[in-house]
Amino acid sequence: MKRLISLAVLAIALLAVTFARPALAAGDAASGAKVFSANCAACHAGGNNVVMTEKTLKKEALAKFGMNSAEAIITQVTNGKNAMPSFKGRLSDQQIQDVAAYVLSQSEKGW
Ligand code: HEC
Repeated sequence: MKRLISLAVLAIALLAVTFARPALAAGDAASGAKVFSANCAACHAGGNNVVMTEKTLKKEALAKFGMNSAEAIITQVTNGKNAMPSFKGRLSDQQIQDVAAYVLSQSEKGW
């Protein structure tokens, strides 16, 4: 009986982990908005790019430069690129995932 109970507990725990995963792994655009205004808006206000004007965060530009996925944005924010600084150590992995989700959702909405 004891064994049955612990098996049931184990099964429930496994189910909980399985279903909780996608929510944890995906970025949260709402908290990404705060990360964006504090860290990105200086150069990217309104989805623009004040440093390299063609590399905006608009849907067409992201597609053109292969930046229209969470992975690509996470990589660039983490490591930086040319005049864009690296945010490794300044933002947590979760904050970077959140800001990537925010950028993608804003690009869908047209900023
Ligand atoms: C100091 C200015 C600056 C800041 C701050 C900055 N960026 Fe950038 N960003 C750039 C520049 C410059 C580029 C173009 C880099 C290149 O391709 O050479 C760029 C490119 C990008 C691109 C790709 C755009 C495209 O069309 O290819 C994304 C996405 C992006 N930045 C997101 C962010 C996010 C998210 C943040 C905040 C965490 C951020 N940036 C902070 C300057 C900045």
